[in-house]
Amino acid sequence: MTARIVCTLPLPDPAPGLLSAAAEVEVIGASPSRERTEALLREGVDVLCPQLGDRVDAALLDTGLPRLRAVCVYAVGYNNVDVPAATERGIVVANTPGVLTDATADCALGLLVASARRLCEGDAVMRAGGFTGWRPDFMLGLELRDSLLGIVGFGRIGQALARRALACGMRIAYADESQPPVPADLAPHVARMQLETLIAEADCISLHVPLDESTRHLIDEAALRRMKPTAILVNTSRGAVIDEVALVRALQQGWIAGAGLDVYENEPAMAPGLAGCRNAVLAPHLGSATVRTRAAMAELCARNALAALAGELPPHCVNPQAWSAGAPPPVR
Ligand code: DGY
Repeated sequence: MTARIVCTLPLPDPAPGLLSAAAEVEVIGASPSRERTEALLREGVDVLCPQLGDRVDAALLDTGLPRLRAVCVYAVGYNNVDVPAATERGIVVANTPGVLTDATADCALGLLVASARRLCEGDAVMRAGGFTGWRPDFMLGLELRDSLLGIVGFGRIGQALARRALACGMRIAYADESQPPVPADLAPHVARMQLETLIAEADCISLHVPLDESTRHLIDEAALRRMKPTAILVNTSRGAVIDEVALVRALQQGWIAGAGLDVYENEPAMAPGLAGCRNAVLAPHLGSATVRTRAAMAELCARNALAALAGELPPHCVNPQAWSAGAPPPVR
């Protein structure tokens, strides 16, 4: 039986070459539909490589049984996959951690600087011919030096942002219930805080938590109301970590000064009113969007898929227990 892999969107090099050397590869294409994915899974697929916008739930997994053995996501975040359902069905799930840390931290820093210094608002003023000359009180923003950056979720990306922010002279606090180890270079410069305290005291807050039921709407109306009215909120994690409808009111009514967003609760849509908030810097999910990072993600995704085809646990498997009763035999 020829091994078969389905990618919902084309993956960058080197994935196509790596995958097609080991399997027949079907790429659904520009606007992958759930119906098409289901139809292919019913025909028989060993490995599915979905994108972060493709919902992989129990019903979709069932259409792939009994052949589907692995779901290899082209992303570090895998909240779009029902992992417990995959585990129950003996399907491993893998992601692409590590390789997008710096690109995403760069993006978070960019949103932080752009929001604090109102750069997109200024860009709009220039394009509209609204700049009538330098004035001492024109478009004043927040100075980063000595401002307190609160990082929520202190894993790889949160720590990479901390290093960048330290170079800007910021003070750093973090909140993370999992109490991650803090590397020696950062330890003397960062303070751990309870989330409630961080929300109330930070001048800027940047979110770096995975989306799950414990983090959905972590920043809700109550949290937004507790933030300083001068504060900036940055999100490069997942949109639903913020209650986006409440955020629009916070931006419109001045509960906070601004936001830098790369992700949205119902991506690619935005909450009504958000596009009209001049104090929001809005990026279209660009966190990992560099040529080098996307290629590195493609390689990890392909290596995960190839391992699964060989009957080996993918190097970045998030549910190894799915194969605790034994890995399936190699398929070629
Ligand atoms: C991820 O990998 O989870 C990112 O959101 C992609 O940019």
